[in-house]
Amino acid sequence: MKLAVIGGGSTYTPELVDGFARLQAELPADELVLMDPSEQRLERVGGLASRIFAKQGHPGRVTTTTSVEEAVEGADAVLLQLRVGGQAARQRDETWPLECGCVGQETTGAGGLAKALRTVPVVLDIAEQVAKRAPEAWIVDFTNPVGIVTRSLLQAGHRAVGLCNVAIGLERWFASLLEVEPARIRLDHVGLNHLTWERGVRLVDADGTGERDVLPELFERFGTEIAGHMHLPEPLLRRLGTVPSYYLRYFYQHDAVVEELRHEESRAATVARMEAELLEMYADPALDTKPALLEKRGGAYYSEAAVALVRSLLLDGGDVQVVNVRNGSTLPFLPEDAVVEVPARVDASGAHPLPVAPLEPIYAGLVAGVTAYEHLALDAALHGGRDRVSNALLAHPLVGQWDTAERLTDLLLANNREHLPWA
Ligand code: G6P
Ligand code: MN
Repeated sequence: MKLAVIGGGSTYTPELVDGFARLQAELPADELVLMDPSEQRLERVGGLASRIFAKQGHPGRVTTTTSVEEAVEGADAVLLQLRVGGQAARQRDETWPLECGCVGQETTGAGGLAKALRTVPVVLDIAEQVAKRAPEAWIVDFTNPVGIVTRSLLQAGHRAVGLCNVAIGLERWFASLLEVEPARIRLDHVGLNHLTWERGVRLVDADGTGERDVLPELFERFGTEIAGHMHLPEPLLRRLGTVPSYYLRYFYQHDAVVEELRHEESRAATVARMEAELLEMYADPALDTKPALLEKRGGAYYSEAAVALVRSLLLDGGDVQVVNVRNGSTLPFLPEDAVVEVPARVDASGAHPLPVAPLEPIYAGLVAGVTAYEHLALDAALHGGRDRVSNALLAHPLVGQWDTAERLTDLLLANNREHLPWA
């Protein structure tokens, strides 16, 4: 089994590699190839990856390459975790929208649109290579914005599933609050990537025979902790009776977040510092485990989620996982080709969303609005053009106004020319 990681020079890779090493019995890989345009990163991250495999007795080999073609040749699964323009581009995404009083964030709002425009063409080129050199391979996309990128891949006919760690993070956290095994937790997770709510948290009986919704109990015992963890007001959560992901903060508390962001260091700047430190650490030949500093990044449990998904796709697992998939008839008020983030049964034929209860109006409007934005964002990413960018912003529930959309469009283009040949 050959697994390829595009963007393998990411400082996140040791997290992924640690997962592959720990869970080697579940996913027996002969080769893990890390592809990255930066030789220096490959040397450092690849070196550490090999040491982690060796230390944990993984019989497979870690290889590195700067060539996408070489990396994907004959691969069984290709994981995408690239970041076009690196943290420098993210820094800009997080900054210029603030000038218009809008949230600056790498996946949400105008910054997320910029990221989508830079990323979709690059990902589609890579996917073309996969289709040519490994036509049976599954593409697992962690590259943000996951909803739009996954939609672009599916629309182009690729075998792709989108993945995010928000759901697995919550599953593990609820399990720890309840002091039970994570495998006993099932989330009624619904929405779009980075726009989701937990409408139920089901706890499977210890003997596996039945299950019950423990969300009311979680609210009763840990309401304050849950609100704190999600960075959202407790009365809001209690009223909704659901747990929104922390990305809903950018909607429910938009103006307050903008104020905060104006006075804080950007996340990109913090991450860039951490990355420099991590890359220094990775260069140390004595280091053979993932360093604790990596826990300060947002990627907790990313490796567990990736191993579980790749395993079920390649080895016909048949279990239920929260993934980004084609909507079909799951949320009937959305187009069938929208991409939704819901529990799905994953086997060798792909990820098949389970039916979900009708979405209440308090969520459905937002989900429909953001889906329309994602459609227009993809249109702009595929075909370019200033008006298409502005249309996407006009449709975005966090923008909407003509003047703001126009100003944001100018800023977006001015800040991204080097990545947008048509701009
Ligand atoms: C979470 C999200 C990812 C996002 C990451 C950012 O894991 O699900 O989509 O990329 O956080 O983490 P960072 O450490 O880069 O801010
Ligand atoms: Mn995510």
